[in-house]
Amino acid sequence: MRSIVVTSGKGGVGKTTLVALLGKELARQGKRVVVVDLDFGLNNLDMLFRAEHRVFYDLSDVIEGRCRLKQALLTDETQPNLLLLPSKKAYLSQAITGQKIRAVMHQLKPYADFVLVDSPAGMDLGFHRAMQTADEAIVVVTPSPLAVRDADKVLAMMRSYGMQSARLVVNRVRGELVADGEMLPPESLSKLLKARLLGAVGEEECLLLSKKPSPTLKRR
Ligand SMILES: Nc1ncnc2c1ncn2[C@@H]1O[C@H](COP(=O)(O)OP(=O)(O)OP(=O)(O)O)[C@@H](O)[C@H]1O
Ligand SMILES: [Mg+2]
Repeated sequence: MRSIVVTSGKGGVGKTTLVALLGKELARQGKRVVVVDLDFGLNNLDMLFRAEHRVFYDLSDVIEGRCRLKQALLTDETQPNLLLLPSKKAYLSQAITGQKIRAVMHQLKPYADFVLVDSPAGMDLGFHRAMQTADEAIVVVTPSPLAVRDADKVLAMMRSYGMQSARLVVNRVRGELVADGEMLPPESLSKLLKARLLGAVGEEECLLLSKKPSPTLKRR
C-alpha cells in the first residue's frame, strides 16, 4: 500500500480537488484507492464525492472507538474500488494525534493499493499531523508568487521531517499566459522549488462537480 499526503502552504490551491481527481483516475485504472480527509472542520472531500448525505460515522468515530473502520468507509457511487474515509464532524481535532491516524492507516492496508490523504493548508497542527500519516507527499502549488513562497516553506519543513521525495503538482496553469511569458511554466517552478514535477493541471471551468469527464493529469 502506498500512502500519499497532499499538502500545500497556501490555502485554496487545489489539494482537495487533486485528491479527488487522482483518486478517481487511479480507481479508473483498476487500483483500490482510499481517500482520507484530514482537513477536520473544513472538510469538503465528502462534497466532491457527492457523499455528504451518506456520512454517518467519520474518522474521529473510528479513532475513538464509536464504530469500526468498515462502518465509516463510504464506497464511491461510480467506482466500487474507490473508498472515502470522511471527517465530516466539526470536532475538537487536537485530541486526534498523528499516531492515532497512523494506526487507522495501518488498518486500511487490506482495502487499498493507494491511500491519498487530503490535508489542511498552512503549517499548523494539521500539517504536522498529516506529515506523520503518509510515506510520500505531493505539494500542490499554483503559479502565483504567494503560493510559490508558501510551497517553498512547506518543502523546507518537509525536508526537516526527512521527507526528501515530495513531488510537485502545479495547478491552474494557463497555457496562453505561459506562452506569453506572463506565467512561469511548471518546469521552471519545479526548478525554483527544487522539487520533482509530478504533473500539471490546467485552469478548468467546471471541475469535478460537473457531469463532464474529469480533466486528465498531464504526466511529466
Ligand atoms: N485547475 C483548476 N481550475 C479551476 N478551478 C480550480 C482548479 N483547481 C481547483 N479549483 C477550484 O479552486 C477552489 C479551491 O480548490 P480546493 O478546495 O481543491 O483547494 P484546497 O487547496 O483543498 O483548499 P483548502 O486549503 O481550503 O483546503 C475550488 O473551488 C476548486 O473548484
Ligand atoms: Mg481542501
